[in-house]
Amino acid sequence: MQLDVFTLVPHAYAWLTEQRPVAAVLGRSLDLRLLSYRDYTPLRAGQVDDEPYGGGAGMVLRVDVVAAALEAVYGGRPEHPVIAMSPQGRQLTQAIVEELAGCDRLTLLSARFEGFDERIVEHLASDALSVGPYVLSNGDLPAMIVVDAVARRLPGALSEGSGEVESFSRELDGGLEYPHYTRPADFGGWRVPEVLLSGDHGRIASWRKEHVR
Ligand SMILES: C[S@@+](CC[C@H](N)C(=O)[O-])C[C@H]1O[C@@H](n2cnc3c(N)ncnc32)[C@H](O)[C@@H]1O
Repeated sequence: MQLDVFTLVPHAYAWLTEQRPVAAVLGRSLDLRLLSYRDYTPLRAGQVDDEPYGGGAGMVLRVDVVAAALEAVYGGRPEHPVIAMSPQGRQLTQAIVEELAGCDRLTLLSARFEGFDERIVEHLASDALSVGPYVLSNGDLPAMIVVDAVARRLPGALSEGSGEVESFSRELDGGLEYPHYTRPADFGGWRVPEVLLSGDHGRIASWRKEHVR
């Protein structure tokens, strides 16, 4: 997959790209490009945003800047999904993540301050996604959430089997994963359920099935 993120802070993604699962798939099943709006802006002094028409606090990401960036990188509005990260977007779910992970190419647009000029969302993006019903300071944490969630669904991201049975998966009928425990078996009286210590795989599987939430 080629995944492009348009942002004002490409360097902020350094941590993410050093961590698994992103690090494991980079240069293999994932080609991640971190693109700065400032490198493509047609405005002077790297300007990318402006005051809102009608007045009010904050700056708004300009439509001509985003259009110029898409033009420079793709030669126009691309055919593949272009997703604006926005609190007004559809709420991200595992089903959407699976859909995105199936794309050959994907573009994420991040904004900051007051957000996007609405014409970006209406005419340049094909979709808008929210990571939850709360407001963050910029679209980079949301974009990183999408990159991480998508990367872990790509070939080679996880060790064999570990991405199959987990919360929201088909194997758990979309439910939340059963609880996990590790040593010590008894921590000051907080005991691990006996069945998990029994070595009886049939009983353990039944217990886990019963405890899908
Ligand atoms: C401070 S927010 C803008 C909030 C906007 N004025 C509003 O009231 O909805 C700046 C940017 O952060 C990103 N952002 C903030 N919260 C988000 C969320 N829950 N999901 C996705 N993106 C978000 C978006 O790119 C947004 O344009």
